[in-house]
Amino acid sequence: MALPGTGIQAAIFDMDGVITRTAHLHAAAWKDTFDDFLRRRAPDGQSWRPFDAHADYLAYVDGKPRRDGVRSFLGARAIDLPEEEVDALAKAKDRQFERQLREQGVQTFASTIALVRELRRQGVKTGVVTSSRHGREILHAADIASLFDVALDGIYLDELALKGKPDPAMYLHAARELDVAAARAMVVEDAVAGVEAGRRGAFGLVVGVDRGGNAAALRQGGADIVVQDLAELGIAQLQAAFLAHREEAGWCIEEKGFDRVRERQMESLFCIGNGYMGIRGALDSPLPASQADLFIAGIYSCKHADLPYSEIEFLAPERGAALYAELVPLPFPFCLAIAVEGEPVDFAGAYGRELRRVLDMRRGVLHLEAAFETPGGRRTVVRSRRCASLLDPHLLLQEALVTPENHWGKVTLGTCLVAADLAVSHPHLQCLEHAVEDDLELVRYLTQASDFEICIVSRVRQEFRMLRRLVSVFTSRDHAEPRAAALAHAQTLDWNRFEAHFAGSAKKWTEFWSRADIRVPGHPSVEQALRFGSYHLRLPAGADDCVSIGARTLSGRAYEGHVFWDTEIFMLPFYLHVEPRWARNLLLYRHRTLDGARRRARKLGYRGACFAWESTVTGDDVTPTKILLKSTGKEIPIFTGSQQIHVTADIAYAVWRYWEATRDEDFLTGPGADLLFETARFWMSRVTLVGPRWHIQGVVGPDEYHHDVNDNAYTNWMARFNLERAAWLAQHRGVNAAEAQEWRELARTLYVPLPDHEGVIEQFAGFFALEDYPLAAEARLKAPISRLFDWDKMNRLKLLKQADVLMLPLLFPEAFTDEVVAANYRYYEPLTDHGSSLSPAVHAAIAARIGLQDDAERYWQQSLWLDLSNAMDNSMLGVHAAAMGGTWQALVFGFLGVRFDEEGPRLDACAAARLPDEWHRLGMKLAYRGRLHAVKVARTPARKEKQ
Ligand code: BGC
Repeated sequence: MALPGTGIQAAIFDMDGVITRTAHLHAAAWKDTFDDFLRRRAPDGQSWRPFDAHADYLAYVDGKPRRDGVRSFLGARAIDLPEEEVDALAKAKDRQFERQLREQGVQTFASTIALVRELRRQGVKTGVVTSSRHGREILHAADIASLFDVALDGIYLDELALKGKPDPAMYLHAARELDVAAARAMVVEDAVAGVEAGRRGAFGLVVGVDRGGNAAALRQGGADIVVQDLAELGIAQLQAAFLAHREEAGWCIEEKGFDRVRERQMESLFCIGNGYMGIRGALDSPLPASQADLFIAGIYSCKHADLPYSEIEFLAPERGAALYAELVPLPFPFCLAIAVEGEPVDFAGAYGRELRRVLDMRRGVLHLEAAFETPGGRRTVVRSRRCASLLDPHLLLQEALVTPENHWGKVTLGTCLVAADLAVSHPHLQCLEHAVEDDLELVRYLTQASDFEICIVSRVRQEFRMLRRLVSVFTSRDHAEPRAAALAHAQTLDWNRFEAHFAGSAKKWTEFWSRADIRVPGHPSVEQALRFGSYHLRLPAGADDCVSIGARTLSGRAYEGHVFWDTEIFMLPFYLHVEPRWARNLLLYRHRTLDGARRRARKLGYRGACFAWESTVTGDDVTPTKILLKSTGKEIPIFTGSQQIHVTADIAYAVWRYWEATRDEDFLTGPGADLLFETARFWMSRVTLVGPRWHIQGVVGPDEYHHDVNDNAYTNWMARFNLERAAWLAQHRGVNAAEAQEWRELARTLYVPLPDHEGVIEQFAGFFALEDYPLAAEARLKAPISRLFDWDKMNRLKLLKQADVLMLPLLFPEAFTDEVVAANYRYYEPLTDHGSSLSPAVHAAIAARIGLQDDAERYWQQSLWLDLSNAMDNSMLGVHAAAMGGTWQALVFGFLGVRFDEEGPRLDACAAARLPDEWHRLGMKLAYRGRLHAVKVARTPARKEKQ
């Protein structure tokens, strides 16, 4: 039984066919009316097709307001009547019904009446909604009017000018009258139009009552449960179904409606993927302005200057000889062309009416449902689902079902793999081959300059109005002969296993969730948003240790697919404690790109390895040296490529964290040692002796508003850590003794800014002396372009783009007292504009630690909803994976204060008290040293609980 207050609060019933047995009276009245009309209309002596009191009744008129019913049935018979005649038929039906009612009386379903009584006993409010103008009369005639707190009938609905079912207006109005949110109310219906209304109104539970042969249609229309009679359902079952429905909703991201302007943002949010590739969540028939890209991990090519850099307004110039400067967007592999009687139905044209996207994160499947209305009021619904198999990384699956709702018009379904405007939309690609034969389509591309070959093969099967498609994707990165591999793969796929392919992938997702899911009972939307982050962090993770994860994963074009410190510092802890082998692969990628890092060190005039600020295939730095404003061509110099060197120590830090959490000795003494030693060598050569101490000069710290600064606290601290760990490891392994001694000595004598008399650590030499900048509250969480233009002026201001000093207590929680952490938060937080999505989560973590609960929750919520709310107005170029990893860390290391000892994770003594307000429990798992540890927190009784 559900907890009091958590279950269904109201039940709203349809009348005819659910409460009363008037359906047969209605059916008979419709039949008399239509048959009379059809007979009169038929040319003399000719036969005519009568109204089918079962099939036609269910398909066209059941549950609908009378006039809608007339139009719907006539539409199906391709009969167009003027309004007065439609009206006359509706009135005739009404007269027929009154006659039937007089002659036969009203009977009720005893099981329904029993359920209504039981619900009322349990305190659940009840209502009845019917399109029938005789609703009240019938309730009184049956003597059941007193069983309903609200009764809305056709007369009332007309007065309010509410739209009839399947529009949810009537049910929503009833819920409002009952003073219960739709999400807490259930709808009980026997008509497809009615269950659709319930679903479209986002009711907490929709029960379909199948009085004969209608179960599948009710289910398809959106019923959560279908019964033949309500005698089959007790209250306990209803409550359980309601909670299950709520639970399921927490696994889905749903977006209703179509908004051309937001389409690209939707494409990012609804992305699917499997580590090998990511496909943006474009509509089955993308708009011309869509960015319906397919990205394949590791497939980069030379830069195309007309593709964006970090923001849509920015362009980055071509970078000469860099072969792997940009992640390659490939054409959409799910494209469908659907036409009804020759009219293309898509949202680019004029016929799109309704749209619903549901991302099922539990199973990694994207569902789309689109309704179109073509001339003559012909309504056609296209339902589709697609997934990138988690079981077979080369496989994509798609299914589409077209339902003409009120017509028999001809529907055609076509597929195509290639983009018409390839040169413009996918400029890196040269099409080598495109062939179509029987059910098979093949396309082969070559990427310019980088010479990767990609082969995509699609097989399509169409049965009546259902289309199924299996897509195989191979590249020369994974196979010597991608064409042969894709063909062989496509041929081995068995159509009979189509459903099994979906199921196999879903099973893999279940395994992932069994490790990654975070439960916050009573807070389904928080769980949902957390899942959204974990889902998107799962998409780019994979088995390939030659690739890493770009700032916007495989979900969009921003930052050209480049890999930043985001991966090691913001995302990696998530992987480390969910599926450590993914963290290992990310570090192996850095190991494989050591040569590039060595080249960068040489290029900058140093030794060892200096990792690229922005990295792709080889590890060579691909950061642009300037960006251009698209509208004016104005240039902004970029200093990060040559000065943001902390990424080198960030990687060393991640190596150490990985080893601490896994004790993977093979890794540490192999690739880990190479990484630690080569990075330590870099720092040895990068420092400058001034007086008795060594300094690191001319850098950009995490706060990118200041360049060419000396002794950035974060950089120096990280470099020292890097040197210390390298020295420790060398000694531990008995290698490089002389060098280890030098590393240790440098770590000891490297200048690292300490807290001043007020506990504040100076961000870099001279920061305290900069000019004050009054930062307005509304100027936060934006990265105004003007700031970037004023790069020179910014250097002189006390204004931060993102957490810099505050990164240190996040990464080294034990190194600072709470007082010092608080002093730094109080000093730097008001100076920070959070122009980077990485910033809010760090502030949340630190605020939580020092007990600033309001700040902590506000920042955490900002970070949690960053993409779903499009807070930075740039989610259209891909989701912000670092913010997602940061949100996870702020929860685990900030609110819960998790630290690890030999046994596993330990919660901070204040963890329960620090939980965001109104949370009463939290449960999750953390992988640590070969085991998955359960972490559970319950709110201390001192704080109020909300159910
Ligand atoms: C941030 C960097 C980050 C990059 C990629 C920039 O705006 O300042 O810290 O690495 O975005 O996400």
